Parts: sequence; structure tokens; C-alpha cells
Amino acid sequence: MAASAPGKLILFGEHAVVFGEPAVSTAIDLRVEVYARAHTEWLVDGASLDEPRYRYVKAAVARAGGRNPLWLEVRSQVPSGAGLGSSAAVAVATIASLHRDAGPLDVPAIARMAFEVEHEVQGRASPVDTSTASAGGGILVLREPRANLLWSIERDTRRWFLHRCELPPLDLVIGNTGISAGTGPLVAKVKDRVDRDPQAAQMVREIGQISLDGLRAIQRKDFVEAGRLMDRNHALLTALGVGHPSLERLVTAARGHSFGAKLTGAGGGGSMVALTDTPQEAARAIREAGGKAFLVRSEPRGVTTLP
Ligand code: PMV
Repeated sequence: MAASAPGKLILFGEHAVVFGEPAVSTAIDLRVEVYARAHTEWLVDGASLDEPRYRYVKAAVARAGGRNPLWLEVRSQVPSGAGLGSSAAVAVATIASLHRDAGPLDVPAIARMAFEVEHEVQGRASPVDTSTASAGGGILVLREPRANLLWSIERDTRRWFLHRCELPPLDLVIGNTGISAGTGPLVAKVKDRVDRDPQAAQMVREIGQISLDGLRAIQRKDFVEAGRLMDRNHALLTALGVGHPSLERLVTAARGHSFGAKLTGAGGGGSMVALTDTPQEAARAIREAGGKAFLVRSEPRGVTTLP
């Protein structure tokens, strides 16, 4: 068996979504493929599942693997530790590659299981990455169910409702700082701030409102307003302590050629995203500021099995 799942990009709402606030994400056209073949022992890329870099694969196998061992092979176009959801895509594609029935994939079940995997390995998390890698396309996360509901996911006292949302074609440029920061410690840092500081809690709520306003702006193709909201979202994330000087450099460089730019994913390094109608210029500015730049598109295909 073999399966593939896309990486993701959070347009609005990272970190705030962990507290149950709205967020908007899209799958991107960079994918992870996992191949599974019968073998005498469990291996991944010929190595032990116990190696730290395979902890998402190991946790996925612990939940979804059968009794018969497999040789797994992971091929990824999604840079890891870059805020582009590589671990979620690995978890989703691994679970799907372990699917043994003849029938179609149970996508909501995969999304739920992959969220549990991410929660186990990363600590506190939201289901935005794993659900986007499962469903593909644009995703709106809300506290309550609305039209176009895909599924809901619960954890402790929190409940997220994952919705399909239509996005127009967008020119998105990613700038990767090359600094890889762990999502878990950054999520824990924001929680610590929010628990101690009512102003930080208010910032998290403002990010939630920006997600709703930002999606509406994108859908009516008011990219000037969407860009302004991305800039504000970035400022709030920085105030919450997940910025980084290298992110600031790339965001500032990109803004000269964009409607707006913000960090995307967990921050602390990782990547930023710019919304632009001059992607080549924005990419050049990011490179000149020391980042790796590439263009991505929204990807409609979620998790799939491969022939
Ligand atoms: O950087 P990534 O791809 O792990 O994205 C993290 C997104 C957060 O909102 C910061 C955490 C989460 O679980 O939603």
C-alpha cells in the first residue's frame, strides 16, 4: 500500500486555534508519500522506528499498524520544521498507508487518529494541521458547527469544528528562515503567557476575529484588506512571543512587494507567507534578505491512496 497527503499553510489564526479560536488554512501543492511493504520487521527507510526523527511514524504505527510488520518508506517534498505541516502530513499519509480494507479511506477517522498522534508527540495541539492534510483544500476552524462542516474533533474541554471553505486562486510566497523551532515548546510558551496575562488572552481573541475577517476579505478578493489583516496577525503573534529576528527580516523584505505578510505555523523561526500579485519580486526580496523562497498554490487533494 502507498498513500500521500499534502502539507499546509495557515493563512490566519495559528496558536489562537489551540485555544479554540477560528483559523483559516489551506493544503499546499507539496506532498508526503508513504510506501508500505510486508517485511520481517518494522523499519522506516531501512532504520528503526525508535529513531527520534521517526516519532510521528512510530506513533502512527502504534495506533494504526496491524500485527504484520512492514517496511515503510517516507518521501517528502515538505521541508520539516518549517511551519508547513510536514509532521501532520507524515502522520496522515502513514495512517492511510496502513489501511488494509479494500474500501475507500475513512478520511474523518484518519483526521482524528492523526490529531491524536500529533497530540501525543507534540503535546498540546489543535487539529488544524492534521485535518488540512486529511481534507485538502481550504479549511475554516470554528468553535461551533456551521454550513460546510467536515467533522468535529474534541480534546479535554475543547472542541473544534472543521469546515470546508472555498478560496480563490492565491499567489502565496513562502519564505523559509532555515531555522527550525519545535512547535511543542512554542505552543507551551503561548499558553503560559495567556494563563498569566489578560492582555495576551485578549490578543488571542483578536487573532480569532482576524481569521473570520481575513477569510471574508479573501473570498471577496479584497487582497488589500486581507494583507492588512495578515500584517496585524503577524504583529499579534510577535507580541505573543513567537516571532524571530530572521522572520522579521523576511516579512519586512516581502512587504515591499506584497499585500501583506506574516509568519505561518508555529514561528520562532520556521516560515513566513506573503500574499502578493508580484510573486517573483516578493520571492527575490525574500532571497536577498537571506531566506529560501518558493511559490505555493492551494491544493484541493487531501489524503489519497497511491496505485
Ligand atoms: O508549525 P506547524 O506546522 O507545526 O503548525 C503549528 C500550528 C499551531 O497553531 C502553532 C499549533 C497547532 O497545533 O495548531
